[in-house]
Amino acid sequence: MKIITDITEMQGFSLDRRAHGERIALVPTMGYLHDGHLSLLREGRKHGDVLVMSLFVNPMQFGPKEDLGRYPRDFERDRVLSESAGTDVLFCPDAALMYPASFRTAVEVAGLSDVLCGKTRPGHFRGVATVVLKLFNIVMPHTALFGEKDFQQLTIIKQMAEDLNMAVEIVGVPTVREPDGLAMSSRNTYLSEAQRAAAASISKGLRKAAAAFKEGEKDSASLMGIVRGEMASAGLREDYVDIVDERTLGTLPAASSHGRIVVAAYAGTTRLIDNISLKE
Ligand code: PAJ
Repeated sequence: MKIITDITEMQGFSLDRRAHGERIALVPTMGYLHDGHLSLLREGRKHGDVLVMSLFVNPMQFGPKEDLGRYPRDFERDRVLSESAGTDVLFCPDAALMYPASFRTAVEVAGLSDVLCGKTRPGHFRGVATVVLKLFNIVMPHTALFGEKDFQQLTIIKQMAEDLNMAVEIVGVPTVREPDGLAMSSRNTYLSEAQRAAAASISKGLRKAAAAFKEGEKDSASLMGIVRGEMASAGLREDYVDIVDERTLGTLPAASSHGRIVVAAYAGTTRLIDNISLKE
């Protein structure tokens, strides 16, 4: 596996592979890899001759009071894991290279980035869209893969790629879960044992609500009540529960099969997100 830290070198590498007719697949990450990331890499392998994983903890997507400073990092472990999952190039630039002092530009996906997680994390999706566009311009992938676990992020990136006529195919990959249903996340390491146990109530509530939908319950308020009930009895504090249209992220008062139940909740100070599709 090749490790590239320089932006011009990464661009030169990709231009060369493209000139040889090879397809490039990109999996952007912030590292501290878990099975969710590895599933994106395995899927990415199928989409490209060359698989690039970026590892960059993007300061622009963290708010001033968020966990940028304590975000978990382990470069050596990530290097070994990404290589064993079939990565050809690990692109890990320095923040100073990605954001020189002269940096001024941002990408705003209006209407999608200010709802749901965007309400609690103002500026977060601006940071995500901007860094993903930069990574696309640097790695020049034919395909880029993102997890459904961050459903709002996936929707925003698809919209950005469409709006800006980007020649990159965006592929969503299903959420990988712990045996008790908790969606894997680098931030799960922040949880105490009791919080970790309580966190399973999120996916449990989502599964129960999706089952109720399949049995004929279409009223969004009732379905959301099921999720809220599970989380409240485990002692989690809700940030939001909503049932939204998968493309517009607008609230659906009556649940339908293009809907998704989306949740954010706090276990102590750790914010967890999850979602489930209502597709039949
Ligand atoms: P990060 O949280 O490291 O996640 C990298 C990718 O892994 C994202 O596409 C995310 O949706 C996916 N992922 C995380 N947990 C997953 C799980 N349990 N199952 C499946 N996929 C999962 O998301 C980011 O980094 C950043 O915002 C980034 C896109 C890299 C931009 O900085």
